[in-house]
Amino acid sequence: MDLQNKNILLGVTGGIAAYKTVELLRLLKKAGANVNVIMTDSAQKFVGKTTFEVLSENPVLSDLFFDTESSVKHIDLATRADAVIVAPATANILAKFAHGIADDALSTTMLAVTCPVIVCPSMNTNMYQNIRVQRNLDILEKDGWHILDPDSGALACKTVGAGRLPDPWFIFDRALAMLTKKDLSGKKILISAGPTVEAIDPVRFVSNHSSGKMGYAVAKAAEKRGAQVTLVSGPVTLESPVGVERFDVETCEEMADQMLANLDHSDIIIKVAAVADYKPIDPKTSKIKKKDNNKGLSISMTENLDILRLIGGKKTKDQFLVGFAAETDDLEKNALLKMQKKNLDMIAANIVGSSDSGFKADTNKVKLFFKDGSFFDIPLMDKNKVANILIDYVIEKMG
Ligand code: PMT
Repeated sequence: MDLQNKNILLGVTGGIAAYKTVELLRLLKKAGANVNVIMTDSAQKFVGKTTFEVLSENPVLSDLFFDTESSVKHIDLATRADAVIVAPATANILAKFAHGIADDALSTTMLAVTCPVIVCPSMNTNMYQNIRVQRNLDILEKDGWHILDPDSGALACKTVGAGRLPDPWFIFDRALAMLTKKDLSGKKILISAGPTVEAIDPVRFVSNHSSGKMGYAVAKAAEKRGAQVTLVSGPVTLESPVGVERFDVETCEEMADQMLANLDHSDIIIKVAAVADYKPIDPKTSKIKKKDNNKGLSISMTENLDILRLIGGKKTKDQFLVGFAAETDDLEKNALLKMQKKNLDMIAANIVGSSDSGFKADTNKVKLFFKDGSFFDIPLMDKNKVANILIDYVIEKMG
């Protein structure tokens, strides 16, 4: 419920993409927001008012004089809003916004809005690229409104180009970022996530069950809180978090190279990745054939580089280093030992092996230990929430 107690004003104007705004409304509601919708007349030609009314659980404002129980309803909505999203935004409404024209419920309300605004232009490519539309977008951007560039692709008008409304989850993600406190602003954070993979032969490998969910949650949370985030990721199936620079690696050696290349300019380093501790000494270049001699197969392994320990040995006094510990038993003892051996400022220890925490799960139960001897228990909860609490502690301990 990331948007609990937030009032979001959702402006809908007359574009074919108005149907996607229904899904955006659903995401906002699911996140706990109170959503009030304002529709223009042309928006209602694409999607009925009732749909937005039922899903928002609020009356839709579309006519300043006939619709409302109060003659100043629009001022009330504008004053109470924590954020406004206009999606889709037509060329017409952009022109009105840019020039302060107030001739319908939405454009009039927007003149009274003082909170952050996201505008999502969506229209035919030629219209979008038209110099007047671009000029209006420039004006709005200079006024401090956030313009989400449209996606490119096949449009309803049978042309291909820029003009599609971005996916609702993307608009939602950016609204969430806009409403999140920017307590990591100016900080550079280096995060590793996912597993590493060490080849046995061209078709087989040594790895682990890391899905990347925990590390990606930390990267997402840090980006939303204003950090410049670099994510070094082992092979996972997750989408890159918005606004994060991502480097894909496979092996421990590749992960080490990428982490070290980004180390010097990082203020905070958080190593969530599950690195393979051992790798085959002699990976084969062709597939090992199965032999029917009942003798089994032995693979000689050698220890991999400990990336975290290496970084612990290099870090400066201004850098804050966080490790994770995945344990099946003796959580505290093993975590504390790792924190000391690897010269960490903090370690997040989780018990792995159960279905609701550790590897692959959407939730995690983590115990944070700090260099100063203090600790904090994070009960079982969504990995996104765990990530935010972990960041709260990084900020507190960094002073
Ligand atoms: O990805 P998910 O499915 O969401 O699962 C999340 C997680 C269980 C992978 C995550 O919460 C976690 O515990 N990550 C650390 C996994 C791990 O490798 O733990 P470890 O105790 O073996 O290693 C301790 C620390 O040293 C880790 O920060 C690890 O990144 C680092 N390390 C370990 C070995 C090595 N060769 N190099 C390292 O840098």
